[in-house]
Amino acid sequence: MDAFVINGGNTLGGSIEINGSKNACLPLMAAALLGDQPITLHHVPRLADISNMLNLLERLGCSIDEHDSGDGRSITLYAEDESLSLAPYDIVRTMRASICVLGPMLAKRGEARVSMPGGCAIGDRPIDLHLRGLRALGAEITLDGGDVVARVPASGRLRGNTVFLGGAFGPTVLGTANVMSAATLAQGTTVIEAAACEPEVVDVARLLNSMGARIEGAGTPRITVHGVESLGGAEHRVIPDRIEAGTYVLAAAITGSRLRLTNYPADALIAAQDQFERMGVCVRAADGPDADPLRRTVEAWREAAVRPTTVSTQPHPGFPTDLQAQLMALACLADGNSVITERIYEQRFLHVAELSRMGASLFRQGSTVVVSGVEQLVGAPVMASDLRASASLVLAGLAAEGETVIRRVYHLDRGYEQMEQKLRTLGAKIERVDERDLAPVPG
Ligand code: EPZ
Repeated sequence: MDAFVINGGNTLGGSIEINGSKNACLPLMAAALLGDQPITLHHVPRLADISNMLNLLERLGCSIDEHDSGDGRSITLYAEDESLSLAPYDIVRTMRASICVLGPMLAKRGEARVSMPGGCAIGDRPIDLHLRGLRALGAEITLDGGDVVARVPASGRLRGNTVFLGGAFGPTVLGTANVMSAATLAQGTTVIEAAACEPEVVDVARLLNSMGARIEGAGTPRITVHGVESLGGAEHRVIPDRIEAGTYVLAAAITGSRLRLTNYPADALIAAQDQFERMGVCVRAADGPDADPLRRTVEAWREAAVRPTTVSTQPHPGFPTDLQAQLMALACLADGNSVITERIYEQRFLHVAELSRMGASLFRQGSTVVVSGVEQLVGAPVMASDLRASASLVLAGLAAEGETVIRRVYHLDRGYEQMEQKLRTLGAKIERVDERDLAPVPG
């Protein structure tokens, strides 16, 4: 397994291009299962999760053609063989987002068998809302040996319906994508109430509509889908990754640097921008008034001392849970106390103990952490856990005095393309090493 060795304290500089969104790509790729023709996705990031999804789609009869289109990586997917409809545990257990093939495969092939995703480091990851939504469309769903087995009704086709998809923790992003995708081929009209409003859901709706679907209201809590007989192919450019973008803004802030970010999805980061400004972090446009609001060029820097903040994570358009750990790293160096509450995944605090090892002053009470700002973080050996907690440790390591060693960085590789290389080009002292080459951690 790999580790990062970071020597902190360097000021960064230069420009970074934000990749295509991991969390848009996964359901976008699954949409290939719905079409009678190939789809081509542009600006696809090189990530472990994307590789896992490609592996899964191949197992489900998709042909894959990769090429570099000058606009980053392009992938053409074509569901040639529809005889295979099992998403096996060995793939699903490594990536719970595999569940997003359930709706498309059910709607197009009439049946789907997807291994139940296990929990993960940030908590239970139930799929009850996914199943409730598909059952509302007439799907017959049973559990068999750890697999979800879904079949269309005797009529041979799902039927449109009105379904409420809200859960105890708000809407479900992949659940909305699953039900919206399945509804495109249902008989009649589907209304999804309490739909997730995330930009990634909007991106999936855009692709599906370009394939011939009739989806209205994506990005609002009510999505209406008028079923059609079939979907064709399409080309689509993946929206930029708003979480990667926010992470690099925080890298500029925590190191007291000024960075230029291109392909920055400003319009998908308004709640994050609000928090950045509260904490004294500036993100300003460096392009013209005609720029695509989801693909801006901006400059990010910190004005003076980091100011404390109070924030709760919320479904979009609220502050995203996927930036909570990274914002906490910055708050560790604020002039005062911050209060951070996690309302989406109440256990999403694996970074707290690790940041504390680096000298942060954190007090957790349930789903809230009080962050007492300190003068300086100190490098230490720490352990990566989930994807975004790992990013938080990288940010802390960039600012800390001395050496930080982050083990198990495979978590990072799931969602950040070549993070250490990007940071090195900006002037960070960060190396990827084999953990076996590291000195044993004392004690
Ligand atoms: C997506 O996961 C993202 N992943 C997550 O990003 C993100 O944290 C999450 O949305 C919330 O924004 C991808 O898009 C691949 P949910 P998803 O269904 O769709 C509960 C990252 O770091 N829930 O919106 O799986 C659930 O437990 C990852 O990039 C149910 O109760 O999340 C959670 O508390 C981590 N029943 C809340 O809803 C269900 O059937 C939101 O989950 C489904 C979800």
